Amino acid sequence: MNLSPALRTAIEKAGQAHLLAYDSPQLADQLAAIDWENLPRLIADYVLKKPDVQIPADVQPAPYFPLVPRTAEEKAEKEKAEALGIEMLKSGKVACLTVAGGQGTRLGFDAPKGTYPIGPVSGRTLFEYFAQSIARAEEKYGAPIRWYVMTSALNRQATEEFFRERNNLGLREDQVFFFTQGTMPAIGYDGKILMSSPDSLALSPDGHGGTLLALRKSGALEQMKQDGVEYISYFQVDNPLVPVVNPLFIGMHALRNSEMSAIMLAKTNAFEKLGNFCVCNGRLQIIEYSDLPAELAESTNPDGTLRFISGSPAIHVISREFVEQLTLSGRLDLPWHRADKKIPSITDPKPEQPNGVKLESFIFDALSLARTTLVLEGDRAEMFAPTKNPTGVDSVESCREMLIARDIRRLRAAGITVEDGAKIEIDPRKVLDDADGCKLAAELGLTAIRSGIEMVIG
Ligand code: UD1
Repeated sequence: MNLSPALRTAIEKAGQAHLLAYDSPQLADQLAAIDWENLPRLIADYVLKKPDVQIPADVQPAPYFPLVPRTAEEKAEKEKAEALGIEMLKSGKVACLTVAGGQGTRLGFDAPKGTYPIGPVSGRTLFEYFAQSIARAEEKYGAPIRWYVMTSALNRQATEEFFRERNNLGLREDQVFFFTQGTMPAIGYDGKILMSSPDSLALSPDGHGGTLLALRKSGALEQMKQDGVEYISYFQVDNPLVPVVNPLFIGMHALRNSEMSAIMLAKTNAFEKLGNFCVCNGRLQIIEYSDLPAELAESTNPDGTLRFISGSPAIHVISREFVEQLTLSGRLDLPWHRADKKIPSITDPKPEQPNGVKLESFIFDALSLARTTLVLEGDRAEMFAPTKNPTGVDSVESCREMLIARDIRRLRAAGITVEDGAKIEIDPRKVLDDADGCKLAAELGLTAIRSGIEMVIG
């Protein structure tokens, strides 16, 4: 295999000489991309021993700005923030970013998750919800909004093809910026990197923490700078209810000079599968649902409410400059998270038990690296309907119900009588918010919608 002597030595030194027995240009490229210097430490810390998730003894629930202001000061700040957010949008300082590199295993859908037809009536895909909302936001605020879509090496091609087949989902050609996150090799329990075939390592996406470095490496950060973008509106591909841009959230982030901000939702129960906002050693941190000890998750305040009430819907505003600083050295030190998996390899194509480890980094770990942060309470019914499973909690079914409920609420707010049981979907290209909903209802002359009706409005 065509490898430089230095690379060969690094591979041998890292205890991975078994990889040198193969001969393939693709494999050579993959080997050249690995950080060999750090790998042995990663394997020792995360694979050969099971890292204890350290929850500091002084862990506290994180403070947040409430959905309904409690004081006159909070009310004034909220109004100021919303006006500032609108100003930032009107002056083109905001870009959208969707992380769409996950493998969507739980949904059992083979294609990129964003191509899932989630629209309750139209079958509009997740990507189309976002694209059409972005187009409407651009029109509303009269300034360009570029959309950064992060894929993984595994789904980049299929994602781009989907956009091409559907006329870039109605967006301008240069409005969508695809970029690819990094990969990590899967490692067997013996500490050896696994091979998926004689010409490839078993590679998997490096987690959405990879977004930050990938933004730099792809030129996306540079593009944002040239465009005068200061704020990144970040959301996950599985949540079509998310406001693609949220003036209040953007404005509050700007007003507080926050480097990275997060929306929090009140959890529905102690064990809802959401990351938990905590303060550890004085810094904001999200502790995954799987890592928060049960006694903390269930602990209550004197009035019986959950102490750790704040769950993360993974909606952020991130300052471009913060990403620039974090990635300046071309390396990003976020912690790794270990997942034990059944990883097919050339030595064991169909493992029945977990046989190795995949390592991922999480973008929300950057919160504790930020000098200033902000947590803002959001309204679940207006912003969070994740599509994780086919049925049940956080499913296609529950997501569609929430999309319908939001649209019915919008029509009712516009003064239209909507009977329960109506199945409606408002076109996101026309309606971004309640004000748009009122305008559309007036234009269409809608007064009442009967139960049993199934229609797209727009
Ligand atoms: C995630 C969050 C959790 C949050 C919840 C809200 C993690 C580890 N946890 O949980 O704190 O409360 O969402 O719905 O993220 N992705 C990539 N590249 C990757 C891995 C994931 O782009 O390498 C993207 C996925 O496409 C998806 C998002 O990140 O858009 C979340 O990934 P997923 O694995 O579904 O996270 P959850 O466990 O559901």
